[in-house]
Order: sequence, then C-alpha cells, then structure tokens
Amino acid sequence: MKDLIQNLPKAELHLHIEGTLEPELMFRLAKKNSIKIPYKTIEEVKEAYSFNSLQSFLDIYYAGANVLIEEQDFFDLTWAYLLTCKAQNIVHTEIMFDPQTHTNRGIKFKTVINGITKALYRAKKELEISSFLIMSFLRHLTQEEAFKTLKDAEPFKDKILAVGLDSSELGNPPSKFEKVFKEAKKQGYKLVAHAGEEGDTSYIWDTLNLLHVDRIDHGIRCDEDEKLLEYLKENKIPLTVCPLSNVKLKAVKSMKNHNILKLLKYGLHVTVNSDDPACFGGYLNENYEALVNELGATKEDIEKLVKNSFEDSFL
Ligand code: HPA
Ligand code: ZN
Repeated sequence: MKDLIQNLPKAELHLHIEGTLEPELMFRLAKKNSIKIPYKTIEEVKEAYSFNSLQSFLDIYYAGANVLIEEQDFFDLTWAYLLTCKAQNIVHTEIMFDPQTHTNRGIKFKTVINGITKALYRAKKELEISSFLIMSFLRHLTQEEAFKTLKDAEPFKDKILAVGLDSSELGNPPSKFEKVFKEAKKQGYKLVAHAGEEGDTSYIWDTLNLLHVDRIDHGIRCDEDEKLLEYLKENKIPLTVCPLSNVKLKAVKSMKNHNILKLLKYGLHVTVNSDDPACFGGYLNENYEALVNELGATKEDIEKLVKNSFEDSFL
C-alpha cells in the first residue's frame, strides 16, 4: 500500500505554504535576517508543535512566519515544498498563501507573491509540477482589511486563481466576509473557505449559502447534520480534508475516530491533503498512509481519493 500511495500521481488541494516552513529553514532564515525566534534548537521547535486547538497552533504558526523577509525567502520556502511534491509524486498542487501575515509586518505584497510564483514557474519547467495559487484572507481580521488585500492583489491577478478564508474559525463566521467574497467572485476568482474544522454545521451552511464557494476546506463536522450531508452529496461539493492536521489540532480525538472514509462511502467528494505539513507530522503521502494504517483504507479507497483530488481541483 505504501508503494501504491507513492506511485500514484496525486494532486494536493489544501496546503498553506507558510505551514511548510521546516525548523531547519526557520533557523537559517532567522539567522540571515537577524530575527529573534523563541527556540534554541530544532527539538525545541518540535516540542512547541504540540497543540490543543486551532488557536494554540495559529499563535506559533504566525510567530514562525516572522523569519520570512526577502523575496528569496518566499522562493526558498516554496521551492522546498515543491521538491517534496516531486519526491512524493504530487503532480499538481493548489497552494494557499496568507498575504496579511506578511503585509501586516511591513513586507510588500509583491515580495511575497514574486518569491512564491518564481518557484512555481521553475517547478513547472524543471519538475513538471503544475500549480494554482489561492490567496486566503485571515478571518480574525476585518472585512475592510480583506478588501484592502483584494486591492493589493489587483496587479497580480493573473497569478492568483482563487481566494480563500482561513485562521481562527470560532467567532469569525462566514457572514463577516460576505461582501468581499461577492466582490472576488465578480472579479473572476474561484472561491474556497475553511469551514467546519472547529465551527459547527452552521459555519458550513453559511459558507455555502452566503459565500457561494466552489470547495469547502475541512468540512469534517458536516456529519452532525443529515440534511447537510445530503446537500453536499447532491451538489457534489468537494471537501478538502486534512487527517493528520485534524488529529494534531484535536478536531478529532484520534485517527481511529476520523470520519473521512465514512464520508467517502456516503458518496461525498472528499480529498486528502496535508494542510501545514511541517507542523502536523507529515506531508501528503503520510496522510494517505495514516488512513491505511489506522482506518484500514483499501486500495479502492485510496484510488478513489486520488481520483477525487484531480476531479475536485481547478484544473
Ligand atoms: N485552519 C485555519 N487556518 C489555518 C489553518 C487551518 O487548518 N492552517 C493554516 N491556517
Ligand atoms: Zn487549512
């Protein structure tokens, strides 16, 4: 099964580029850019990566991103992830980035996007990996700030396929971003949003009904509402599920309790993704392997999930 997972060409649809920052690169960039980080050793970083909620993770995650300053840093970050894609036989990836995590520290939008897109362009030529970019708004910030980010993106519109919504879900409902999503759709962007990771089913319903997204990121709490399950199935709404992330952030108790295979058997368009692989103990193949080892996923399950990853992509 490990060989099957390795050998199948795969697509990844839910990946935060800032969440691929491995401790080794974090230390190198901290030193180069003279940025203080609260860890002395790689072991200390790994120890800090023990979370009890989404918020406890996000606090550390945003602190780590402080080491990213120059265009070359964003290039190096993205290139390192793309080399892992090559090693794991990921042939297409749809990458999220959070401009506000950087622009709020005085880093220019163009520094971020040029670094990332130069790596994507090189990967297309040298590694034969195709990609799209998803610009995510931070939902703990205001809708006005999201509008400002949409404006910042205007000169780079040809480089960004979709907009997304991430960060702290609880207390920041989809309704807060209704207008900016409407405007993004008008400008021709595809739409995705995190929902139902920690938030209850009302967050998923509102994401569908108010934001009109093409995909739901996570969505695992959908099984608390029969009608929602039916709606998702009927309308073939893709869910980009991230099993190792859900266990690490305690959205589910353990991998054995994960509902991804139940959702798949019910007929939902679920896919497997790594979310923030440097923080959650594995890249894409390790997520698939966990489903085999702990949930008894079969060859047919894996093949269906991989097929979904292409069908639910924006290709
Ligand atoms: N949820 C919300 N925001 C995020 C995540 C996540 O899993 N990863 C990075 N930002
Ligand atoms: Zn995510």
